[in-house]
Amino acid sequence: MRVIIRKTYEEISDIATKLVASRIEKKPAFVLGLATGSSPLGLYRGLIDMNKKGLISFKKVKTFNLDEYYGLKGDHPQSYRYFMNTNLFDHIDIDKANTMVPDGMAQNWEEFCRNYEQKIKEAGGIDLQVLGIGSDGHIAFNEPGSSLTSRTRLVALDAQTIEDNARFFEDKNQVPRFALSMGVGTILEAKEIILIANGKNKAKAIAQAIEGPLTSIISASALQMHPRVSYFLDEEAASELKRVNYYRFVEGAEKKLGKEIF
Ligand code: F6R
Repeated sequence: MRVIIRKTYEEISDIATKLVASRIEKKPAFVLGLATGSSPLGLYRGLIDMNKKGLISFKKVKTFNLDEYYGLKGDHPQSYRYFMNTNLFDHIDIDKANTMVPDGMAQNWEEFCRNYEQKIKEAGGIDLQVLGIGSDGHIAFNEPGSSLTSRTRLVALDAQTIEDNARFFEDKNQVPRFALSMGVGTILEAKEIILIANGKNKAKAIAQAIEGPLTSIISASALQMHPRVSYFLDEEAASELKRVNYYRFVEGAEKKLGKEIF
């Protein structure tokens, strides 16, 4: 596990951008797992910028998003498909046919979820998964208590999640009650994972995920089981970590060696 801490969100977004870009440079037919929400926006802006400057290409890249509200069409402004189009896909040279976001209107959701997992396999698996973290420690829509071996499935949203997301809708009754989400087990199969977190309201969840016990109540703690995870944290999100000195020491050692140390 790598924990990279910087003062500002801009700095961590910049480092995350460089990491993702360097991986795509090495493997142009990259399979990239993506998240929505505010945390990866700086990364997406960075990738758009590099693409516009001709420094990276997404022509051969395939993407799989973590989740989507169940019951929202892709053109709904609160759908995750809409979010991805407007915040990333519309601005880079990616073929939209290669961008997969769970279909919030899938009638037979069980079959849809099986096929989604199958598509990931057929693409050769996810090379790198981008994650954010909820203030309750969730990753994707894996609400506290989600099985650590869960797969892509229909998830009933927690009352707190519905409450938190109500601000994006005209009224609370319009917030979907369900979502389609990759499971914790699906996420753990990605070959590499980066998690971006900023702000004081993520500090507790980050400390629990990185330094707390492995528990389904904090679904991000499952990342302790993964051999290639990098956390990109601003100082506020890192403020409840106990081993910051060690993480900084390891980063220094990485610089000396010219290699990442997981
Ligand atoms: C969204 C997703 C969620 C978010 C999390 C943090 O695709 O997977 O788990 O990453 O809710 O959201 P933000 O980044 O808005 O704080």
